[in-house]
Amino acid sequence: MATDKLWGGRFSGRTDTTVEAFTASEHFDRRLAEYDIAGSRAHALMLKSCGIISEADCNTIIDGLETISQEIADDRFVWSAALEDVHMNIEARLTEIAGEPGKKLHTARSRNDQVATDMRLFTRDAIDQLQADLTALQYALVDLAEAEADSVMPGMTHMQSAQPVTCGHHLLAWNAMLERDWQRFGDCRKRVNLSPLGVAALAGTGFPVDRNMTAATLGFEGVCSNSLDAVSDRDFILEFCGAVALMMVHLSRMAEELVLWASQHFGFVDLGDPFCTGSSIMPQKKNPDVAELVRGRSGRAVGNLTALLVLMKGQPLAYNRDNQEDKQPLFDSFDNAHACLGVLAAMVPNMIFDRERMRNAASRGHATATDLADYLVRGGLAFRDAHELVGTAVHLAESSGRELDALSLEELRGVSDRINEDVFEILTLEGSLHSRNHIGGTAPDQVRLAAAQARQVLAER
Ligand code: ARG
Repeated sequence: MATDKLWGGRFSGRTDTTVEAFTASEHFDRRLAEYDIAGSRAHALMLKSCGIISEADCNTIIDGLETISQEIADDRFVWSAALEDVHMNIEARLTEIAGEPGKKLHTARSRNDQVATDMRLFTRDAIDQLQADLTALQYALVDLAEAEADSVMPGMTHMQSAQPVTCGHHLLAWNAMLERDWQRFGDCRKRVNLSPLGVAALAGTGFPVDRNMTAATLGFEGVCSNSLDAVSDRDFILEFCGAVALMMVHLSRMAEELVLWASQHFGFVDLGDPFCTGSSIMPQKKNPDVAELVRGRSGRAVGNLTALLVLMKGQPLAYNRDNQEDKQPLFDSFDNAHACLGVLAAMVPNMIFDRERMRNAASRGHATATDLADYLVRGGLAFRDAHELVGTAVHLAESSGRELDALSLEELRGVSDRINEDVFEILTLEGSLHSRNHIGGTAPDQVRLAAAQARQVLAER
């Protein structure tokens, strides 16, 4: 053998050093080591139970893998780029430790089903972690929503004051987005949690393997049904990164609102000194960098998804080396999402809302105009006509620099004689809020109910 490669038999020339460096992935896929070892252990046990290797060989392999696992945990393992990837680094070391039996581990297996298995195990753990992170953030939001169930703030459309809402209601809208994200990860997990192991390179193996056995050992719910698809399918990574990208878009939208709310112009929220940073030149600054970075990092999540979609687009069946490129986007999407969820979950309980500022903002912009139109409808007008009349009332208020609720009863009766003294109840912020008392509405009572239900959902996970 003219080369020292595990696949060197048919080669007579050595690998060019630039090629060796270019093709190596061990510097990033070593992160899969614990999954690779778990997969190898399951594979060895199956080979033994199917009579493909002896019990003694199996035991030697298992012991060797245990030693390697310890070496890696203690940072004593010597990684080699010449051995390309995590799989061959571990296998070569196993043979060093275990001798001949180590060379038998790769019977009825290929790196193609091996790496697909590792990636599924990694992604399954990543989902479990992000779901736990989401739950922590959701609890924080629900707690805060309950505390702010009565606080009024301007609800906006087109970034213009639209109707008053409760701050708690707004926070529960964020929770609703995250709730879908949590569910989306759960949906994705079903398709992640299938075992490709045992299909070998692409066509299956001539050895009498038991794929259900390795699947069960590794906690998979079943096996991938087609060998060609099993080694080439990366949908589970795309789905996961898709779910991450969408979740990051949600976090980015929240972050954007926090940046606005924390500005002097809004002044709705103080994000807390421990969660802000200063400026090196402007002494007065207290910047919402955490929120800005979350917003900024969502770009990476979208970029990773795009990279993966394009990675898969031109690939014929079955395995192609392109797939080695699936790892960094996946790892980055996970790390990034984990970090963003963690910092937000820490920040949310520290946020202090300025209820006075929010109320003042809500009372500007004729936010109860729709309530006045509804009032006229209850008095017998068609909504479209009521809308028209209230428009003239707003015009009247606007032209004299006042809010709608500052118009006198006479002025209002000039708009419609169906208006009576009781109109002022519905023109108040509280009147408007409390009237929207149905499922999904902004009334404080509904917010308390919705928060309790949301907490129940979290507790039942
Ligand atoms: N490092 C490779 C990857 O991540 C492992 C599979 C290599 N398979 C092969 N036939 N070269 O995809």
